[in-house]
Amino acid sequence: MIKDLTSFYSKNALNMKRSEIRELLKFTRQPDIISFAGGLPGPETFPVKDLEEISCQVLREKGALALQYGPTEGELPFRQEIAKWLNREKAGIKPENILVTAGSQQGLDIISKIFLDPNDIILLELPSYIGGLQAFTAYRARMIGVPQDYEGMRMDLLEKELERLAKKGKKPKFIYVVPDFQNPSGVTMPLERRKRLLELACQYEVPIIEDSPYRDLRYKGKAVPAIYSFDKENYVIALSTFSKLLSPGLRLAWIMAPTEWMDRMVVAKQSMDLCSPTYTQLIAAEYLRRGLLPRQIENIRKVYGRKLEAMLKALEKYMPKEVEWSKPEGGLFLWVKLPKKMSANDLFPKAIEKKVAYVVGSAFHCNGKGQNTMRLNFSFSTEQQIDEGIHRLAEVIKENM
Ligand SMILES: Cc1ncc(COP(=O)(O)O)c(C=O)c1O
Repeated sequence: MIKDLTSFYSKNALNMKRSEIRELLKFTRQPDIISFAGGLPGPETFPVKDLEEISCQVLREKGALALQYGPTEGELPFRQEIAKWLNREKAGIKPENILVTAGSQQGLDIISKIFLDPNDIILLELPSYIGGLQAFTAYRARMIGVPQDYEGMRMDLLEKELERLAKKGKKPKFIYVVPDFQNPSGVTMPLERRKRLLELACQYEVPIIEDSPYRDLRYKGKAVPAIYSFDKENYVIALSTFSKLLSPGLRLAWIMAPTEWMDRMVVAKQSMDLCSPTYTQLIAAEYLRRGLLPRQIENIRKVYGRKLEAMLKALEKYMPKEVEWSKPEGGLFLWVKLPKKMSANDLFPKAIEKKVAYVVGSAFHCNGKGQNTMRLNFSFSTEQQIDEGIHRLAEVIKENM
């Protein structure tokens, strides 16, 4: 009998960390818990009827192709449709710039695999997307968090960090940002900051990984151009996904990159899964070809816009004045700051007792800080549950202040 497995595992495997969110989701499956924990889309937004009809058509007309292996880069009709979709933001994007991935999470793994050796430095927002932290940790990157405010990563601090590293002769492998309605904080980086970010990236010759699953989910305010849309120097690699626009169950996303970056990414993906599912790619390609996505997005915007308003209203109504929160204009999340001395981690079991769940903010901090913060999701619960859940959460906070 093997007793100690540790000696068998690679250093990378031993360095991997379980996602706290995935662990928390176990609690939130209990039916009487109101969960603001996961990042799940509202199931009422799934275009079930359209996908049912298109799935049948794909099987009927292209069954032999749909059920077969496909190219690693992705099915051409799907990549053509994605390129067309992205041409709204930047002319000249071609199918050759698109690598289809099984969710953006796989995109992050591919990026990590091709860029990172153990101890390589990367710069990212503080807080940042937990799945990104997980991927980078698995490849043993040294993550340096750059604090953000309500307008995203602070460029003065990024510049200082780049300068500090340059003086030591060190160069980060990339800067990872989620500039639109960030997961976890909900904040969006304004245009000036995006321009400065690109300027700094070019000056210090560090690529930017722009991960933007929520870009199209804006409920108010004016859209800000994607960083890749004004990148003329090929410094930006952009990730996006249909998880929050169509359905995460399709597992369809893409990396959009200058063609020079593509070869290593394709090879990296080959050893992961050979290809993304042909069947779902052909379904999504037909969905896009029929021009159904804009209407779908409009529908989601209406539904989530109402839910966001319901959460902001409930926070205003129930939270004690010492508690602060972000006021996002889109996306799926909102960020809550408790008074400095309070710990969202200590509060968590008490919140579960009161049948409400959230994700502790420290899980999103690569430096383990942010104990007094939490992430709330507003897309999954109904408006009534949002009101009741925030009421419960406010009670737990007040009782423990
Ligand atoms: C910032 C960010 N990147 C990537 C992902 C992964 O999405 P998926 O793998 O479903 O495309 C998510 C999901 O929540 C996210 O918030």
